[in-house]
Formats: sequence, structure tokens, C-alpha cells
Amino acid sequence: MTQTHKKLFVKTWGCQMNVYDSNRMVDILSSLGYKPVDTPEDADMMILNTCHIREKATDKVFSELGRLRPHKEAKEEKGEKMLIAVAGCVAQAEGDFILERAPYVDMVFGPQTYHELPEMVLKASGAERIVNTEFPTVSKFDHLPEQHTIEGASAYLSIQEGCDKFCTFCVVPYTRGSEYSRPAQEIIDEAHRLRDQGALEIILLGQNVNAYHGIGPDGTTWGLADLIRKVADIEGIERIRYSTSHPRDMDDDLIFAHGEILKLMPFLHLPVQSGSDRILEAMNRKHKADLYRDVIERLRKARPDIAFSSDFIIGFPGETEQDFEDTMQLARDVKYASCYSFKYSARPGTPAANLQAALVPDHIASERLSRFQALINEQQAEFNKTCEGLVMPVLFDRKGKKDGQLSGRSPFFQSVYVQGNERLIGNIIDVKITSAFDNSLTGDIVIYDDEAA
Ligand code: 5AD
Ligand code: SF4
Repeated sequence: MTQTHKKLFVKTWGCQMNVYDSNRMVDILSSLGYKPVDTPEDADMMILNTCHIREKATDKVFSELGRLRPHKEAKEEKGEKMLIAVAGCVAQAEGDFILERAPYVDMVFGPQTYHELPEMVLKASGAERIVNTEFPTVSKFDHLPEQHTIEGASAYLSIQEGCDKFCTFCVVPYTRGSEYSRPAQEIIDEAHRLRDQGALEIILLGQNVNAYHGIGPDGTTWGLADLIRKVADIEGIERIRYSTSHPRDMDDDLIFAHGEILKLMPFLHLPVQSGSDRILEAMNRKHKADLYRDVIERLRKARPDIAFSSDFIIGFPGETEQDFEDTMQLARDVKYASCYSFKYSARPGTPAANLQAALVPDHIASERLSRFQALINEQQAEFNKTCEGLVMPVLFDRKGKKDGQLSGRSPFFQSVYVQGNERLIGNIIDVKITSAFDNSLTGDIVIYDDEAA
């Protein structure tokens, strides 16, 4: 008997949290007979999972919707229906406005409502147009199915969502709502299920992941370090990472965990945004640059080979040449393995968006950004160079672009390419690094004598 599936096309922008959410939407819709497809043609439902963190997010969504519209019209000409949905943080921020501007959109719903998808799809199939930007009192995590879509041997696991920090430039507290930590046991159970499906690496996710404070199975409140220890106890899980953290929440327990738990990878993404105390204050980051330096130093003491990446915002309102120089100096002091840097963009509804008078002229912000990125590129190339000649365990999770090539991740999250058999995908294998490039490494799979014997 052949069963016909409905085709679901999902396009995802933005952070890893959105990738996780998209996978969970696929899971939940599979119970309604939807199967994911790679192209929008002929899909029965399309979901755009959107990001609002930086500029032009809304414009991008509307131009993508414009591109998708003909597919819907073609389908309608055949007398069939195609549902178009906008999810994620743009949906949360723009709500009704999307339905007004794009009359062919059927559903608009925010990140806290995904567990209500079956109900929403049912209503939309009956020609009702849906806008759902509630922050429901029941957690979506309690209602998402247990089944999982994972790609490759590295799996995301969302443990915390939302943010109470209110950095003045950031939309997250408004689009994702206030901080919520999932109960620890739920997370541990989910980690077991991911392991059963072949995950070797778990990346614990949250907008403020190191502020995690979930209820433990023993009734006490667990911090992130407690949770990492328990996930590390799961046989078959070989690697743990977590993202994204705030410097103020790097407590001693978590810092020491980096020294104690070998499965915790020696690479940490720890955004600082600026190296100037004046700007950090204007950003409401609630710490000084030296606190960040101190956290980095203590982490290096706990785990000497640890490498760092960060996020920086260049050209925040009021940033002087001296403030920018302080940011450059912080980066020189830390020496990053990689970094993301962004030109400040005013986000509607955030406090910094009112600082119009102090705006840094665009050409100055751009010029500073390129100076900053030149420094970071240099640091990244230098860090990669130190890996030449080393043997490191690489988690292979996909084919490379070239013939016979495999692609994987080093412990420091660098992309590593080797020539090798496809059956090695989904394994952690020692690789001798032969060449370092600006953004990747290449090497040879190490064959040990006892294997050859
Ligand atoms: N302008 C520029 N960059 C921003 N980010 C967040 N909000 C803004 C903004 N308004 C950057 C921060 C954050 C990363 C995810 O995006 O560096 O850490
Ligand atoms: Fe945004 Fe600041 Fe919260 Fe990070 S800590 S999500 S930058 S408000």
C-alpha cells in the first residue's frame, strides 16, 4: 500500500536555536503526514523560520515570500492548496503586519507557539488566517513530540530559552521572551534519545545557556555544570558543547567543569560585544572588560588548550576611536580562534534605537569593522597554523565539496577536510593536520599499526 505524504519545505535563517526549532517543527508535522523536501516547488506547506537579530530581516522575509508566491499560485491553478507560514522572531515582532502586507500568507506564529502547530495547521487548512504571537503559560517543550530529526552525528539540544538581560541593542528579550530553563531530567532523556539515533556530539543550546537553572531530578536547582556532568555520563556521547553564553554567568563550577570533563570540548563561544567599559555600560552588559579578561584567564587555567570565539558589535552609538581601540586591544589580549563581528544596526523597540544623536557615521563604522575583521582574520589564520602537524580527533559529519572528500570538526570547531571513505561519516577519527588555511584545515586520517596488523 502506498501512502502519500504531504510535502513540507522549511527555510531557516539565524541562530542554532532556529535550526533546532525547525527540526522540531518537522517532527511535530510528521504526525500530520508531512515529510520535509529540499525545494519549494509543489510543496503543500512552506515555513520560513525567520531571524530578527540584525538589519533588514523583515525585508528579507518579504522578498523571499515574493519568490515563493508563484509556487503557491501554480499549485492553486491545479486546484491544490499550499500553506505559507512565517515563524520565528520576525513573525513574533511583526505579527499582523505580515498578513496585511502579504495577503497570500496563511499563518504567522512566534517561537513559543510551535507545539500548537497541529491546531494552527488544521485551522489554516480550513481557510482561516492565523496570527499567534502569544507567550503561552505552558512551555512548548512539554508538548513537542519526543521523536527527533537529526542530521549528522552532531545534534542540537535546546535547554534554555529567552533572556532577562536586556542588552540595549538586542531584540531577543522581546522576541523570545523571558528566561526559561527546561527540567534537567527532560534534557537528559532527550540526550539519550539523540544518542540512540546516532548523535556523538550534543550541542546544548540557549540564548543565555550558561544562565541555565533548571529543576533537577532531586528537586534542587541545577546549573549548567551539573547538567553537563550528567550528559557526559551518557555512554556513546563523546562530545559536548554549549552556546551561547554571557560572561557574567561563567561561574566557578562551570569554569572548573572545563578542566574536569574531557568530553566538554576545549572551545567556547563567549560573546563580549565591546572592549570599552563606556560602551559596555551603554550596552547594559553589566560588566567591565576586565571581568571578561579574568574569566578567560580562569578558563585557560582550568583547561590550558581551550580556544575562544566571540561576538563583537562595532559602531555602537557613541563609540569613539578610543572605545574602538579598547575593543581592538581586548581582541589582541584574548587572541581568538575565530570571531563574529557585526556593524551595529538599530533594532526597532530596543533602548539603543533611541540613541539617534550619537550614531556613528556609517562610513566610520564600516572602516572600523574592516580593521577589526582584518585583526580577527589574522588571529584565526595564526591559530589554525598552530594546528599544523598535530593529530586531532575529528568528528566527520558530512561529505566535502570535492570528490572523495569528507568534512568534519576538530575539537576547536574548525572545519577539517580529508580524503576518505564515506562510511567514516558519523565517526570520530584521528587526523594528522597537514595544512592550515584561513577558514579550515586539511589532513590525513591516521592509520595505527595495530589496525593494519
Ligand atoms: N546590531 C548588531 N549586532 C547585533 N547583535 C545582536 N543585536 C545586534 C544589533 N542590534 C549581534 C550580537 C550578538 C549576535 C548574535 O548578534 O553580537 O551576540
Ligand atoms: Fe541579547 Fe544580551 Fe540577552 Fe544576549 S544577553 S540574548 S545579547 S539581551
